[in-house]
Amino acid sequence: MDTIRKATVIGAGVMGAGIAAHIANAGIPVRLLDIVPEGAANRNALAEGAIAKMLKTDPAPFMTSRAAKLVTAGNIEDDLAGIADSDWIVEAVVERLEVKQALYRKIDAVRRPGTAVSSNTSTIPLAMLIDGLPAAFARDFLITHFFNPPRYMRLLEIIAGPATDPKLADTVGRFADQVLGKSVVRCKDSPGFIGNRLGIYWLQLAVVEAMDAKITVEEADAVIGRPMGIPKTGVFGLIDLVGLDLMPHINLSLSKALPPGDAFQAANRDLPLIRRMIAEGFTGRKGKGGFYRLNRANGGKAKEAIDLTSGVYRPEHRQEIPELAGAARNPRALLASDTPLGRYAWRVMGRTLAYAATLVPDAAEDIVAIDEAMRLGYNWQWGPFELIDRIGAGWLAERLAADGLPVPPLLRAAAGRSFYRIQDGRRQYLGSDGEYRDWHRPEGVLMLEDVKRASQPVLKNASAAVWDIGDGVLCFEFTSKSNALDADIIALLGKTIGVVQAKYKALVIYNEGVNFSVGANLGLAVFAANIAAWSEIEKLIAGGQQAYQALKYAPFPVVSAPAGMALGGGCEILLHSDAVQAHAESYIGLVECGVGLVPGWGGCKEMLARWSASGLLPHGPMPAPAKVFETVSTATVSKSAAEAKELLFLRPTDGITMNRYRLLADAKALALRLAVDYHPPKPVELKLPGPAGKVAFAAAAEGFHRRGVATDYDMVVSGALAEVLSGGPTDLVDVVGEDQILALERAAFMRLIKTRGTLARIEHMLETGKPLRN
Ligand code: NAI
Repeated sequence: MDTIRKATVIGAGVMGAGIAAHIANAGIPVRLLDIVPEGAANRNALAEGAIAKMLKTDPAPFMTSRAAKLVTAGNIEDDLAGIADSDWIVEAVVERLEVKQALYRKIDAVRRPGTAVSSNTSTIPLAMLIDGLPAAFARDFLITHFFNPPRYMRLLEIIAGPATDPKLADTVGRFADQVLGKSVVRCKDSPGFIGNRLGIYWLQLAVVEAMDAKITVEEADAVIGRPMGIPKTGVFGLIDLVGLDLMPHINLSLSKALPPGDAFQAANRDLPLIRRMIAEGFTGRKGKGGFYRLNRANGGKAKEAIDLTSGVYRPEHRQEIPELAGAARNPRALLASDTPLGRYAWRVMGRTLAYAATLVPDAAEDIVAIDEAMRLGYNWQWGPFELIDRIGAGWLAERLAADGLPVPPLLRAAAGRSFYRIQDGRRQYLGSDGEYRDWHRPEGVLMLEDVKRASQPVLKNASAAVWDIGDGVLCFEFTSKSNALDADIIALLGKTIGVVQAKYKALVIYNEGVNFSVGANLGLAVFAANIAAWSEIEKLIAGGQQAYQALKYAPFPVVSAPAGMALGGGCEILLHSDAVQAHAESYIGLVECGVGLVPGWGGCKEMLARWSASGLLPHGPMPAPAKVFETVSTATVSKSAAEAKELLFLRPTDGITMNRYRLLADAKALALRLAVDYHPPKPVELKLPGPAGKVAFAAAAEGFHRRGVATDYDMVVSGALAEVLSGGPTDLVDVVGEDQILALERAAFMRLIKTRGTLARIEHMLETGKPLRN
């Protein structure tokens, strides 16, 4: 077996259904099987129900509704024989050894020898799973441990046993990395692997210590959250998210599998409050609430938190915590402060970090694997060893010793130095033998982070930088806050075009921020508007248009490579690129109308051109503007790159990369392919409906207004958009060129930015992050 062309997932619960959806997201047909419920008329009810439920879940497990069609529901009584055509069979049934083993025997009787069988078990060691099963089964068996939700959590832990065929494990690993887009961390066959071994210890410790020290859930989450680079859900918020009911099962399973002396055993004790909450249905967000809840009694929406001592809900209470001052820069001060919260933070994080240092080499090959697992499995900003480097390994070791706690040898080896260091621009990590080793990316991965560590920018200003990524390709990086676009970026784009033209083959526009770009810097726009600096604003709009046009018609290929949000001006830069290589999790849209504006950097123009040439619409001048009007006036944002193709924010020929780490390499390869015999595109000429079209749009908008869907100010904004999209004072015999539409965009933009309603929308967005519906 060289790759996976078809798959089967057995167990259509939370995980199995999500895994099947994600395999389908990658374009692979997958069968989803569950048991036949007793007395059921529909024998596929469980799997079918799971698919139907996923189609309504938010955040969506499926990237498009088309992906859902790749999943076939079935049951293990009627459809098991069909798995013979699957290259990979994933078991995701209940966490019970005897149930899993009985299923393996059934699978083994029908599967094709040499096809991979893997378990999604959270805690059961592989050696136990294959105990008593035939040798041929053991050879094809491994553990593939996904995190919930499988589409969005990037970590995949893979565990191969001594009997597992290494080639087969590599094939599954490569598929998971390149096709499913997961970051594969190889773990040893030890209980809970890496993520749960450390993560569950950390959570359990944080809960019991909070109860013992009478720390509130809000205080605990404030302290064991942001200051540590941990998401603001902290501990109790995270348990609410994953479900309180999972805790006792996973704790029991871990405690049975770990030796009596393991630090987890001391932290793992029965918690009557949690037992009671689960029994009464307070299982977290999926239940009636958890440590936090939204109390809707008496028609209200009161935020409440549970009192850990009395078990009674009370109003949520968040207050300034003095210990946190400066903690954002270095959490050490917090850990060192001799206050109840400081001592709590220390008791939880000091032990968690020390525990991490005991996991090499029994659970993980090296510290890199542990850091990756906690970053991608728990969304920690820094893995535990990166966090120790911030705190100081020597300080941590001393403090543990002062508390009479054992200092793990690996931590002792790091004391006085650090777990990671940069040597000649290369990142190195400390091995368990006390020697530093080069840290290697998986083959074929290119990260800008590494390029930046090892070189100087070719060009740079306050908001952007340009890097040489080799083979004649430059990479343009936004460096502003949230990668918002401003005059500096526009200016550097202009300069970059000249440099590429003189000495390079192609340009890639890419960065490693959470979001490719949230669009133009609205703060600057408001500032300029408030001092009526209209000519400055107009200059920026015109300058942006020129820069984007210059990109489009440059004599070399431009490939943009977004991940996360690409909104407004960030979307428009994609629209002007020769091609886009998008991360699968790209959220693309022209959202200007939401802040009372229209796309002003050629977004209207490019979308009109795309829909007109798409061949997807009926003939005539009206359908394309109508389609763009529908998408842009509602500020539609795609929920995936695949969906962006349906909206034509991406072309059918644009590339999608599933693995975030592989995006830059893929974009660069695409740019080099395009550079062979490159010709810039031909200018666009359009036939647009003119005033008649504008009237039609106004009538449509009026309908929405009457139904209460569109607000008063929406009517103003959509009127301006209609003016642009209908082509202004044109008629059906005229041909409208790019410059004409750009001029219409500028005029509409300038009219709106001078209007009170638009400023109110922008200010509201800046203050609350949400659109104002005035
Ligand atoms: P779940 O309880 O949501 O779903 C289990 C499904 O398996 C149910 O639909 C059940 O009807 C089905 N099932 C039971 N016996 C079966 C059999 N013999 N044949 C076919 N289907 C059968 O469980 P969940 O949470 O999806 O967990 C599944 C596995 O994934 C477990 O091993 C769990 O430890 C692991 N896991 C769970 C995570 C989570 O966050 N829930 C995270 C990572 C792993």
